[in-house]
Amino acid sequence: MNAQLTPALSHDELDAFWMPFTANRQFKAQPRMLARAQGMHYWTDDGREVLDGVAGLWCVNAGHARREITEAVTKQLGTMEFAPTFQMGHPIAFELANRLADLAPPGMDRIFFTNSGSESVDTALKIAIAYHRARGAGQRTRLIGREKGYHGVGFGGMSVGGMVNNRKTFGASMVPGVDHLPHTLDIEHNAFTRGLPQWGAHLANELERLIALHDASTIAAVIVEPISGSAGVILPPVGYLKRLREICDKHEIVLIFDEVITGFGRVGKPFASLAFDVTPDLMTTAKGLTNGSIPMGAVFAQRKIYDAFMQGPENSIELFHGYTYSAHPVACAAALATLDIYAKEGLLTRAASLAGEWENAVHSMRGLPHVIDVRNCGLIGAVELEPRAGKPGARAFEVFLKCFERGVMVRQTGDVIAMSPPLIIESKQIAKLVETLTSVIRDTA
Ligand SMILES: Cc1ncc(COP(=O)(O)O)c(C=O)c1O
Repeated sequence: MNAQLTPALSHDELDAFWMPFTANRQFKAQPRMLARAQGMHYWTDDGREVLDGVAGLWCVNAGHARREITEAVTKQLGTMEFAPTFQMGHPIAFELANRLADLAPPGMDRIFFTNSGSESVDTALKIAIAYHRARGAGQRTRLIGREKGYHGVGFGGMSVGGMVNNRKTFGASMVPGVDHLPHTLDIEHNAFTRGLPQWGAHLANELERLIALHDASTIAAVIVEPISGSAGVILPPVGYLKRLREICDKHEIVLIFDEVITGFGRVGKPFASLAFDVTPDLMTTAKGLTNGSIPMGAVFAQRKIYDAFMQGPENSIELFHGYTYSAHPVACAAALATLDIYAKEGLLTRAASLAGEWENAVHSMRGLPHVIDVRNCGLIGAVELEPRAGKPGARAFEVFLKCFERGVMVRQTGDVIAMSPPLIIESKQIAKLVETLTSVIRDTA
């Protein structure tokens, strides 16, 4: 019998919190409460240990409850809990920007701070549009996203995003002047590919079609996730991102990589753009920046973009954009401590050394009942299940629930089970994750 860690909440006490991206009534009828976390594990309110197969929500890359981060945050709270960054500064904001610039892909050494992935995306979209105006091409306002893309929940991110449930309610309120590339998921050609699929680079040429339709002179930016996470782990075909880069260069379109989940070591290099050797003009990050401990995001910009704004009278504000909590000192302290851990423990490249073992482990699920695809890259894995007739997502949700009951946390999106464990995962934990998921899939009709 496990000890109860926190008091169980009554039905009434569950009502007030309107939970995000959650089936509220279903959850509140049968809550899944987390009460404590350490290393690779959560503990439920009733004291059950749960292996974290998703790094919280793709963010706790260095594992839970890292003492160094707690200490840095505590110290900063005691020194200066808040300081504005509008027309004022504080040293660790600059220190953090420099540290991030050192990690960044070539030339991406100008950093704008936000508080989340959604804010990073909306910031990057605004920077792209304002950049063109600053260089005398103010008619370039059109944005190109991609089907099945997820770029958070701001109006900009939602509009360039391509997940129908996130969009359909808000149809007429979308940002105007947005178009979408086709997604790159093709199970017919690429099922059970290990790593990046060989088929599909030509899908990037669809950008030329959109340019022919709208004219390059109207297009500000293209935004894609190097690897789509939220739509169920969709990998870029070999050569696809390079082709997008070439087309954007040819037509002077800003290329934005949304690295909110791929940033900070997820695919074996600090950023996916480094792993795939394609450098964007703007890069959005959040999540792993502070190991999920304090909300923070950052947009990385090529210096040429920043420089384009640095003109006109010196007393003029160059970009009318920012958040009260941009470069919040406590978040900066958390991020600096996180970067120290990443450096000391080699976590930003650890996924590369585990990738082979991880790949074999997740692909061992090929052949299980209802499994129609397995995908992997770095420390990301996905198992796609055949949907139940007329009940999309039901089978995968049942698998998610049973895994949780058996002590493993995975993520369900549609009929895909996604895994993205903390980068500190050990072999025996990879084995437990995959063994549990395997047994659950076998037991699920
Ligand atoms: C690629 C991508 N962009 C943006 C976001 C939004 O981040 P947040 O939830 O921090 O606003 C996410 C969140 O999962 C994401 O995966």
